[in-house]
Amino acid sequence: MKDNKFLTLGIETSCDETAISVVADGREVLSNVISSQIDIFKNYGGVVPEIASRHHLENINGVLSASLSEAGVTMDEIDLIGVTMGPGLVGALLMGVSTAKALAYAAGKPLVGVHHLNGHISANYIQHPELEPPFMALITSGGHTEIVQVDDYDKLTVLGGTRDDAVGECYDKVARVLGLGYPGGPKIDRIAKEGNPEAIHFKRVYLEKDSLDFSFSGLKTAVLNYLNQEKQAGREVNRADVAASFQQAVMDVIVKKAMDACDLRHESKLVLAGGVAANSRLREMLDSACSKKHISLYYPAPILCTDNGAMIACAAYYKYQKQGADGLDMDAYPFLEL
Ligand code: KG4
Ligand code: ZN
Repeated sequence: MKDNKFLTLGIETSCDETAISVVADGREVLSNVISSQIDIFKNYGGVVPEIASRHHLENINGVLSASLSEAGVTMDEIDLIGVTMGPGLVGALLMGVSTAKALAYAAGKPLVGVHHLNGHISANYIQHPELEPPFMALITSGGHTEIVQVDDYDKLTVLGGTRDDAVGECYDKVARVLGLGYPGGPKIDRIAKEGNPEAIHFKRVYLEKDSLDFSFSGLKTAVLNYLNQEKQAGREVNRADVAASFQQAVMDVIVKKAMDACDLRHESKLVLAGGVAANSRLREMLDSACSKKHISLYYPAPILCTDNGAMIACAAYYKYQKQGADGLDMDAYPFLEL
């Protein structure tokens, strides 16, 4: 039922989740259907782009019907269509963008293309109805690690980012060499709870003084070297200790830089976003660091941390209010800047 609410359909296909959601008035989730390809990519140890696009194509109509029916609305009642236009895997993005354009054209609805990272940040508007910009955002996902100043719904400035691997990518690679499977983030999170974070000292890379950039590729190599060295010496490796020590090395750097960013811009609100925002150690450490500095910390429920259509619908709703609709010439942009 519509009840005079403004309904946005949000479509997300930038990686390996085909996700469509209906959101009322920007923040109320009426449906959030996610068809994940994780089971398929477990066998490959990571996402294979061509296979991901094929599965989006097979799944997208079913996910759309399920999402509309779960929300109890028809396509006619939708007021706006929002879709992830980038960044992401180009073939995967195109599945969402083409579907969104076809629906917008056939049903005569306005269309808005959304930046995937603005979508991740927007998951927090859904989770915390009182949250409004300005605030500092820390985005940690499979493809991105960025610190972003959010001055308004559509005014975002990147203050720092990774110069090589993203945090989630690093978690997935380390999990693979530890034989924990894909996706590695949740597995390392779990096993690290049984390990000692001080068992092995991996170097923390802070880069230049005052830099808000990150570099994680050296840490990934350090874990690999440690495992090889132990193997050659014939010593058995304690995987929980390696996971806990690796995780601590990552989180020490991330937490320090997030706090530095808040200090630098005198920000009293910090928002977490992206798949790695589901990490329990990150939440624990930031909870404690923020409460010492009287900074309010916001993060979404785990289901809204990883890719979903609701965050895209929310970001589309605010972009539409501020900037109006995009044309049907809107495209998929694999390397879109914020
Ligand atoms: O945001 P997301 O769904 O996709 C991208 O936009 O990249 O993030 C997926 C990433 C994966 O690398 C996954 O391993 C990581 O988020 N992840 C986690 C946790 N849950 C998911 N990393 C650490 N701890 C977790 N609990
Ligand atoms: Zn994502």
